[in-house]
Amino acid sequence: MIIAIDGPSGAGKSTLGRMLARKLGLLYLDTGAMYRAVAYAALRSDASTTDAEAMAKIAREAHIDLVGDPDSLQVLLDGRDISHEIRNEQIGHAASMISAIPEVRRELVRRQREMGAHGGVVLDGRDIGTVVFPDADIKFFLTATPEQRAERRFDEERRREADLNYEEVLHDINARDRRDASRADSPLAIADDAIVLDSTELSIEDVFERILEVVREREARK
Ligand code: DC
Repeated sequence: MIIAIDGPSGAGKSTLGRMLARKLGLLYLDTGAMYRAVAYAALRSDASTTDAEAMAKIAREAHIDLVGDPDSLQVLLDGRDISHEIRNEQIGHAASMISAIPEVRRELVRRQREMGAHGGVVLDGRDIGTVVFPDADIKFFLTATPEQRAERRFDEERRREADLNYEEVLHDINARDRRDASRADSPLAIADDAIVLDSTELSIEDVFERILEVVREREARK
C-alpha cells in the first residue's frame, strides 16, 4: 500500500503521516526533509541557491538517508545526522527555493520512487499524489487556513526560538505557499482523486480518526 499525504506547509502532514505509519506498521518518508537536506548542503557550499546547475549537482552528489522508525526519524547527509539543523526557517526557505529547480526535483523524485517502490509506505510532501506516485492507493490533501497553520507553527517553535513573532511566521507561511503553489514544475496541487481534509476547526486526533476511517473503507473494498 502507498499512501500519499500532500498539502501546504504547517498543515500537520508530518505529525499525521508519522501517526498513520506507526498505526499501520508502514515506512514513513518525509520528502520535505530530502529537499531540506539538499538546501542544507547548498547553504554550506559557495554556490548560490539560484544557480540551477550547481544545485542539481549538489542534489545528485548528496547522500541522503532517512533512518529509524516514524517517531525518531533521522535525516543523514553524507552519514552525518542533520535532523535538528534542518528544522528552521532559513533552511525551509532555501528548500522551497531549490525545490523549484526541475533538475533537483528530477533527482529527488527518482530517489523517492525507488524508496517507495516496494510499497508499505506513507509519503508526505507536495507532489506525492500528483507526480511521485500518481497511482498511490490513497491520497490525502491536508490543509488549514494560513492563520491556523501559522499559529500551530508559532506554538511549536516558540519553545526553541524565544523571540519568534507570530506576524513573521504568518508572513513566511504565506510566502512559502505562494512559492510552492506557483512554481512551474510540480506545483503544490490537489490530485483529482485526493481526499481533502481541512483541519482548521479540527484537532489532530479528529483528523487522524477521519484518515483511519478512509483507510479502513478502502481496505474493506479491496
Ligand atoms: O514539508 P517541508 O516544509 O519540510 O518542505 C520544505 C520545502 O520543500 C517546501 O517548501 C517545498 C519543498 N518540497 C517539495 O517541493 N516537494 C515535496 N515533495 C516536499 C517538499
